[in-house]
Amino acid sequence: MEESITARRFTAPLSLDIPRHWLPGNEVVSSLLNAYTILVPANEAFYIRTLNACMPRLRDDVLRQRCQAFIRQEAQHGVAHKRYWGNLDAQGYAYRGIERVVDRGIFRVMDRVAPLWLRVSLVSCVEHINAFLGFEFLTQSILAHADPRVRDLMEWHFAEEIEHRAVAFDLLQAISPRYPVRLLGAVMTSLLFYLLWAGLAASLLAQDRLVWRRATWRQLAHHLGAGHDMARRTLGHLGQYLRAGFHPCHLSGADVLAATVLARQAATVPPSIVPATPRT
Ligand SMILES: [Fe+2]
Ligand SMILES: [Fe+2]
Repeated sequence: MEESITARRFTAPLSLDIPRHWLPGNEVVSSLLNAYTILVPANEAFYIRTLNACMPRLRDDVLRQRCQAFIRQEAQHGVAHKRYWGNLDAQGYAYRGIERVVDRGIFRVMDRVAPLWLRVSLVSCVEHINAFLGFEFLTQSILAHADPRVRDLMEWHFAEEIEHRAVAFDLLQAISPRYPVRLLGAVMTSLLFYLLWAGLAASLLAQDRLVWRRATWRQLAHHLGAGHDMARRTLGHLGQYLRAGFHPCHLSGADVLAATVLARQAATVPPSIVPATPRT
């Protein structure tokens, strides 16, 4: 695999006239990705703290540089998604209380009580989830008809998740390569991630009074089943992660996909690159 990790700032304006359901005709996917946007900053701050805590243990300079590039990308993702919170606030969504509880009640507690090997295992699995979500959304062009401003935000993030998808897994191999560690992290992460994500998306739909509406359940069935096939695909990707010979680089076609998205965006707005800070 030819790995290339470049941290780009997302500089495009996210003006307040973006509709609350920015994927026309699909309030379910709009709400799922709005929930994703709410969860990204605390999630990614946890990844960054975890990787920083590993740095003193790393003897491999290449892996250390890859971790630093990963951190630069994730830091920008947090900044960009938090900028979109301004739209969610203007639309009247109540979510900041839940977000604070998730950050303080889960991630900050994890920092204090979970051993580093477990935290790295959690990050490794959630990074696999981020990468395959990006892969599915991009290969299936699920956001093709979305408001272009939110589509660009999401697709930029998905593409960068694909770029750095192998870093946390390789870090886990360096810190604690035992299979039970991977398995424990995968079980905990999958339960936590999908519970939080689905719960928050349901809360946004409930605030829009869209839960008890036939079209919402049709959209959900389309997303999980016959349309985007996300239930079966998600189980398949999670199953891959548990295979003994798994490595994130095996996600076939992902690098070309990410490069194509980023090249298309760069053709419209030249990317603003975050430089590596020289070590002192
Ligand atoms: Fe990210
Ligand atoms: Fe990531």
